[in-house]
Amino acid sequence: MHNRAFAELGINFRYAAFDIEPGQVREAVEAIRALGLRGVNVTIPHKVTVMDYLDEVDAEARAIGAVNTIVNDGGKLIGYNTDGRGYVRSLTEETGVDLSRQSALLLGAGGAARGVAVALLGAGLASLVITNRTREKAEQLAEHLQAIHPQASITVQPTERINEALVDATLLVQTTSIGMHPNVEASPVSKEALHERLLVSDLIYNPMDTKLLRDAKEKGAHTHQGLGMFIYQGALSFEYWTGQPAPVDAMREAVWDALRSRQQA
Ligand code: ATR
Repeated sequence: MHNRAFAELGINFRYAAFDIEPGQVREAVEAIRALGLRGVNVTIPHKVTVMDYLDEVDAEARAIGAVNTIVNDGGKLIGYNTDGRGYVRSLTEETGVDLSRQSALLLGAGGAARGVAVALLGAGLASLVITNRTREKAEQLAEHLQAIHPQASITVQPTERINEALVDATLLVQTTSIGMHPNVEASPVSKEALHERLLVSDLIYNPMDTKLLRDAKEKGAHTHQGLGMFIYQGALSFEYWTGQPAPVDAMREAVWDALRSRQQA
């Protein structure tokens, strides 16, 4: 995706993957300076620990508690998080939804939930209900978000009450691993509780059409797939490193090409 984008804009950069052991994060970060890399992405399991070794972490990444993008600004390493905003950009550009008018129900309270919730509230969402298998984690997340957005309505519902919570919801954001390959027939929500006033968004992109999204379509709801979040988090990282607008269509095409060739293999 990134190499296609560099080629598209004629930028003489290369994107490569490095496998870093948990005990080597400090050395890996020092290597960014020593090698003069313009930037890196950081992924699981290093998104939290890497923050200790940076010169600066921007406010949004601090609110999310994780960094997925580092920019090397003349030897000064600055951490950002593009996951949440990548999600919001995908959601709004692909569906046209007006966040300020939505009542959202968030399923899950892990790292991905935290990233998208911070970004959704930052983009103007005013009403959020959180539900999670482990209720304390939902409560901790709600408290954290409320401190950042005191004006927003942020509440927690037990998972047993998910159907009632859905009646008033207009946006359902699914961040758990339920429905991910190989459990493709699993869904966190019963089909009967879905309705046509809902926009159902699932962060899972393997498979792209999750059971939840298939059920949602059958019930006449609008749907939003998880692959866009992946593409737009990359597009935002690209913009930090290059200072240029990302060629999102070319990046999306590269991702599709990779997925197709993997399917054929
Ligand atoms: P990620 O970074 O992808 O969000 P995570 O931090 O491990 O990963 O969070 C996974 C989320 O999926 C959590 O909300 C988790 O619920 P718990 O907090 O109760 O663990 C949720 N989850 C995963 N598997 C689940 C399952 N089988 N049923 C219900 N929730 C599940």
